[in-house]
Amino acid sequence: MIVNKTPIWFMRQAGRYLPEYRAIRKKEKNFLDLCLSPELAAEISLQPIKRFDFDFIILFCDILVIPFALNQKVSFLPSHGPVLDPIESKLDLNYREFDVCLKKISNIFQTIRILTEKKNKKKLIGFCGGPFTVLNYMIEGGTSVSHKKIINFVRNKNKKAKEIMEILTDLSIEYLKKQIESGVDCVKIFESWAGLLNGDEYLNFIIKPNQKISQAIRSFSSRTKIIHFPRGSKDNYTNFINEVICDVISLDESYPEEILKIANKKNISIQGNLNPKDLLSGDDDRLKEKTLAILEKFKNNKHIFNLSHGILPKTPIENVMNTIKIVRNYEPTK
Ligand code: CP3
Repeated sequence: MIVNKTPIWFMRQAGRYLPEYRAIRKKEKNFLDLCLSPELAAEISLQPIKRFDFDFIILFCDILVIPFALNQKVSFLPSHGPVLDPIESKLDLNYREFDVCLKKISNIFQTIRILTEKKNKKKLIGFCGGPFTVLNYMIEGGTSVSHKKIINFVRNKNKKAKEIMEILTDLSIEYLKKQIESGVDCVKIFESWAGLLNGDEYLNFIIKPNQKISQAIRSFSSRTKIIHFPRGSKDNYTNFINEVICDVISLDESYPEEILKIANKKNISIQGNLNPKDLLSGDDDRLKEKTLAILEKFKNNKHIFNLSHGILPKTPIENVMNTIKIVRNYEPTK
């Protein structure tokens, strides 16, 4: 009997919780250089596949290659995360055509071509940041707790904000198209800071730009699956999937119940949503309970098992292996 198992992969499945990643990272101090080294980036993308046999490969890269391509200064400091020279308007970006921007990061397309040859039967996911999330880092100059600068920018410098958003949206479309031409099967748009906005701001800065990206990708390549992750959207998750073309919606832990029905009606798969903190402890019974609860919760939907956000660097490898085993052995109760 062939049983259709729930596929599984983890956000940030290639990363610091893996000793084989840390070994490569030790040799290449500059994180962006690593993202732009095709052989190494391809090797890192495949590390979690070799170790765990995850069902999807995600390209190893970062959403902040887009500000870098636009000539903003971007660096990653150890134990501090990304640091950017903050900008205040599009005039601070000294860039010319999109073709020139994409040339600066064209090694990423070479990584994809290498992976396309090595992916066997697995699906390869390419990605970019959602335009508002990328704007957030460009304005804040890095990771922020209060997000005061970006909120202030959207509210009080609305015209300037929209001008940069337009550049980010259009460049992201061209970037994703090149990823598709190079061989990715799916694209994921990480709108990690969608939860900062509401009402008209959510409409103008989250829904409309994501809608534009989705429409462009769908008409460019109808076979490419589109995954959206408007993290933190809460009740706006419903507006999002009603307005934006998507094949898969990635959920965090706070979503409206009705999304499960709407997703079924629209033939959208649910992806999610184990809290990455649940993978930290040594309490196997609790992990099993949480994992099974998610499988039960989404058993009447098309479901791809995943986390509600990226895997944490302190995650024990055994917990990842355990979770995969539980997912692969799961038989839904009637
Ligand atoms: O999922 C994967 O395995 C693919 C690789 C991937 C990375 N970043 C590698 C990475 C993906 C899909 C991303 C997306 C990304 N990058 C997002 C969206 C998803 C999310 O988590 O919300 C965001 C917001 C970023 C920006 C970013 N990059 C931050 C805030 C940080 C610092 C925090 C951290 O985890 O260190 C990064 C660095 C980063 N990106 C690392 C990795 C493996 C760690 C860098 C290191 O090795 O030192």
